[in-house]
Amino acid sequence: MASSTTTAADAVLRYPGGKNGAGVYQTIISAIPRHHTYVEPFAGSAAIARRIAPADTTILIERDPAMVATLQTALPAATVIAGDAVPVLMNLASGDGLDGWFFYLDPPYLHSTRKDLSLYKFELDDAAHLHLVASVLPALSAAGARWALSGYRSAMYDEAAASSGWHRLDFTAMTRRGPATESLWTNYEPSTIVPHDLRYIGGSFRERERIKRKASRWVAKILAMPDLERQFILASLAGADGGIPSPAEAMQA
Ligand SMILES: C[S@@+](CC[C@H](N)C(=O)[O-])C[C@H]1O[C@@H](n2cnc3c(N)ncnc32)[C@H](O)[C@@H]1O
Repeated sequence: MASSTTTAADAVLRYPGGKNGAGVYQTIISAIPRHHTYVEPFAGSAAIARRIAPADTTILIERDPAMVATLQTALPAATVIAGDAVPVLMNLASGDGLDGWFFYLDPPYLHSTRKDLSLYKFELDDAAHLHLVASVLPALSAAGARWALSGYRSAMYDEAAASSGWHRLDFTAMTRRGPATESLWTNYEPSTIVPHDLRYIGGSFRERERIKRKASRWVAKILAMPDLERQFILASLAGADGGIPSPAEAMQA
């Protein structure tokens, strides 16, 4: 039993194109803005959905039945839709508006950017990629959704990004064939967002560890304070952006 569980977990972690690599999921999650509904249309092993703080609603879409079964077990709180993501996305985009919805798209990469062309039971041909960039993503944007899409750079994506004003974040990821530059296209400026999940901020392992240590020190210091002093400091922090009275105002009240 233990070994079959381990094997299933390993298979998920090794899923081709899975965003499980060190530095990869941290970079992507830190670029995801706050949302109430999270949708991962080409879910695979859903590395990002498994790691990001859960949204109120999580929807995963995957065409490969074997991965659908894995997802239903790994993420029981999520709605898992089995089938082609594209019509589902077009349908969602034609509805009442997608404010507060976030879509993370990680389709099989364009064949022209890959060496291994048969990684998945269901691949996406060039025409399907063109439909994605020319119709699906603009429809999601027009409906008010925010989205991020992973891929390797190509003329098709560079042209779509230039004509649509998308942003692009490049970072290095380890692949089976060595380091490669991954791109994350977004319909918002990632450096200006408040991340949905702050636990992975920091551009490197060292930086993330430094921030975690700093947070622990500050929390320990604040917890060690006398009660009223701690409450006063927390109220002052909450009011730092003007929402709650400043310490001086609080003292006069
Ligand atoms: C790059 S992988 C996703 C990897 C995923 N981000 C992870 O962390 O494991 C792409 C996935 O898209 C699925 N797929 C391909 N075409 C699809 C389609 N039209 N609709 C839904 N899923 C599709 C493939 O079966 C594959 O699992």
